[in-house]
Amino acid sequence: MSILLTGGTGFIGSHTAVELIESGYDVIIADNLSNSSASVIDRIEQITGIRPVFYKIDVSDKAALQNLFAEQDIDAVIHFAGFKAVGESVEKPLEYYRNNLDTTLTLLEVMEQFDVHQFVFSSSATVYGSENPYPYTETMKKGSCSNPYGWTKSMIEQILGDAAVANSNLSVVLLRYFNPIGAHESGLIGEDPQGIPNNLMPFISQVAVGKRPKLTIFGDDYDTPDGTCRRDYLHVVDLADAHVKALEYASEHKGVEIFNIGTGTPYSVLEIVHAFEKSNSVAVPYEIGARRDGDLPEFWADAEKAKTMLGWEAKRSLEDMCRDSWNWQKKNPNGYRE
Ligand code: UFG
Repeated sequence: MSILLTGGTGFIGSHTAVELIESGYDVIIADNLSNSSASVIDRIEQITGIRPVFYKIDVSDKAALQNLFAEQDIDAVIHFAGFKAVGESVEKPLEYYRNNLDTTLTLLEVMEQFDVHQFVFSSSATVYGSENPYPYTETMKKGSCSNPYGWTKSMIEQILGDAAVANSNLSVVLLRYFNPIGAHESGLIGEDPQGIPNNLMPFISQVAVGKRPKLTIFGDDYDTPDGTCRRDYLHVVDLADAHVKALEYASEHKGVEIFNIGTGTPYSVLEIVHAFEKSNSVAVPYEIGARRDGDLPEFWADAEKAKTMLGWEAKRSLEDMCRDSWNWQKKNPNGYRE
């Protein structure tokens, strides 16, 4: 089976490409490299021994996408491509809506044209918004997102639901990711943020490797056990495995199904810092700063549905996540840049 991964050279896409190839799928990657590097393709080949087919195209370029579908016999699509920086989305909402919605709409139109009906979408726990109690379960109504990035995820879920009503052949799996961290254990692929990292783990790794003097923890006066925010962190390879299971599910079912992809266990920012220091025997200097706008105090997944219906659960520990993040950072202090 041939699987198209849009955004397949990104953090989650590249790890999913490896797991798919190792499960026997043929992988085709479409990516415009706006936030990633072509050398990811070489790294995937180094890990798996198989080079994925690569199209350097923008998924919103309909003619280019039609050409890809005409040349390749695609059976299913996993849609990762999209802008993903929460803060940037507040500054550039129109760019976020244009890019994230356009790519999805174009992709759906071209899939329909070429009779491709299986679709797995990279959604986010952010669609639960601020109204829902945790742990989040898939039966909850979606909430209000605190930023345009989150709204694009919520809107795309709506678009996919409507498309599946109109086209009874369509099979859509919405994976609501919690907080993916870690890296492939080879240290060949990992998270490679441009500039100052927005997310916690890449920031911690860059402090540990000496690229940044210290971590600022965004608030320690939350109503949580140690006052810092708690999240459901999961290993990116576990998350990649969830996509393999989601594809199997999509090939056997029609309509829309939603799955939380998390561990079900929250950790605080301080717990992550200390776990990283302990797992890797390195120091992570930090200071306590002001709260960051839009951060929720805590949330985590009810991970039961993925376990019972997909046969997926996270296997890797927090120690694995910290060790693999650090292994990637040490081996690639400048990410994919030479
Ligand atoms: N944090 C710090 N200092 C930093 C960076 C982060 O203290 O320098 C804290 C944040 O305040 C938060 C926690 O670390 O409490 C995790 O922050 P991340 O930015 O790593 O992750 P978020 O939970 O804010 O965001 C993630 C994804 C988004 C997604 C969101 C909700 O990055 O894509 O979860 O699901 F929308």
